[in-house]
Amino acid sequence: MKNINITRKISQGMYVLTTNGGGCIVDAVSQVSAGDNPLIAVSVMKKNYTNELLKKNDKFALSVIGKEVNPEIIKTFGFNSMRDINKFENTQVREVDGLKVINDSLGYMVCEIIDSIDNETHTLFIGKLIEADIFKEEKEEMTYAYYQEHKEELLKVTTEKGKTAWVCIVCGYVYYGEELPEDFKCPICGVDRTNFKKKE
Ligand SMILES: Cc1cc2nc3c(=O)[nH]c(=O)nc-3n(C[C@H](O)[C@H](O)[C@H](O)COP(=O)(O)O)c2cc1C
Repeated sequence: MKNINITRKISQGMYVLTTNGGGCIVDAVSQVSAGDNPLIAVSVMKKNYTNELLKKNDKFALSVIGKEVNPEIIKTFGFNSMRDINKFENTQVREVDGLKVINDSLGYMVCEIIDSIDNETHTLFIGKLIEADIFKEEKEEMTYAYYQEHKEELLKVTTEKGKTAWVCIVCGYVYYGEELPEDFKCPICGVDRTNFKKKE
C-alpha cells in the first residue's frame, strides 16, 4: 500500500458506546441504511471489555459527543477498561430502554443488535435504531478529525520530566523508554511505532 493514511480522511464522529455493564469511546460508527429504523454499524476491538459485553447483550446505545464535552468523559471511557474501573461512578447518565446514556452529550441512539461480523481483531455490530433523542440541538458534534487536531489540549498529555517519552499521535498513550521496540503497537489503539512522536 502506498499510503494507508488516506483512510484517516474518512469522516467519523465521536461517541460513547454503552451496553449493559459497560462502554467505551468509539469513532468507527456508520449509518448503513435509511428509513424510520436505519441500520447503524459500530466496530469494536475484540480486546475491549465492551466487545465481550455486546456479545451477551441485545442492545447498544451511542451517545453523541459534542465539541464542548468535558474531556474527562473521553479519558474515562477511551483510556480505561471497565475491567479495572467503574466508568459510570463519576459520570452523569440517564437510563433509556434499560441502557445508560451520557448526559453530557448532544443526544443518543439506541439500537437493537441484529447481526455481527468478526474479523481477527474487531467485531462489527449492526444495530437497528429503535429509540433516539436530541439533548442539545444547537451544539456542534465533535468529529474524529477535530479530536485528532485538539487532543493535546483536550487530554493535556503530560510526560514525566527527565524521561524520554513516546506519545501516540492517534490516542495520546505515553510509552517511556529510549527507543520503541521494533514491533511495538499501541496497547490502546493498536497503531504501529511510526505513529509515535518522541518527547524529551
Ligand atoms: C478517540 C478514540 C477513538 C476510539 N475508537 C474506538 C473504536 O472505534 N472502536 C473500539 O473498539 N475502540 C475505540 N477506542 C478505544 C476504546 O475506547 C478503549 O480501548 C477503551 O479503553 C475500551 O474500554 P473497555 O475495555 O471497557 O471496553 C477509541 C478510543 C479513543 C480515545
